[in-house]
Amino acid sequence: MSEHNSAPRQTITLRVNGKTCTGQAEPRMHLADFLRGELGLTGTHVGCEHGVCGACTVLVDGHTARSCLMLAVQADGAQIETVEGLADPDGSFHPIQQAFHELHGLQCGFCTPGILMTVAELLAANQAPDEATVRDVLSGHLCRCTGYQNIVAATLRAAELIRERHDNENAR
Ligand code: FES
Ligand code: FES
Repeated sequence: MSEHNSAPRQTITLRVNGKTCTGQAEPRMHLADFLRGELGLTGTHVGCEHGVCGACTVLVDGHTARSCLMLAVQADGAQIETVEGLADPDGSFHPIQQAFHELHGLQCGFCTPGILMTVAELLAANQAPDEATVRDVLSGHLCRCTGYQNIVAATLRAAELIRERHDNENAR
């Protein structure tokens, strides 16, 4: 596209994984491209680009959103969490990452960042989901590799690890 036709870029500022980030976005740039291209957060993956696969899922103000369907300018001022924000500052795994690692909840890993963010939303609200609930929540994600069994098992294990972590914190 020629310079003449391109829409003016806008400066947007958002909180991403607890840090204030500012970047430039054309009005039609979607949030996934902004996170990956402007902020260098390439953990968020882009698969179908039309809201079907779930690979691009991030949390926006605590709720899952398809970042391929949301414009970056719509996220101006929002709190965004991406897969890069899950691990502790010292790099140790979040219980969700630990559980997926332990139970082989991934193969190629392309779908994984989006699934982890959906699981994060689920377990923030419900730390003891049953299998039917987990399957229902995960139904918005396509995985071409795993057959889903290990993803479900890892999600249930993540819930267990989070409960254990809370029990340990409360016992201190
Ligand atoms: S890339 Fe966003 S839903 Fe597939
Ligand atoms: S692990 Fe390959 S697409 Fe899910």
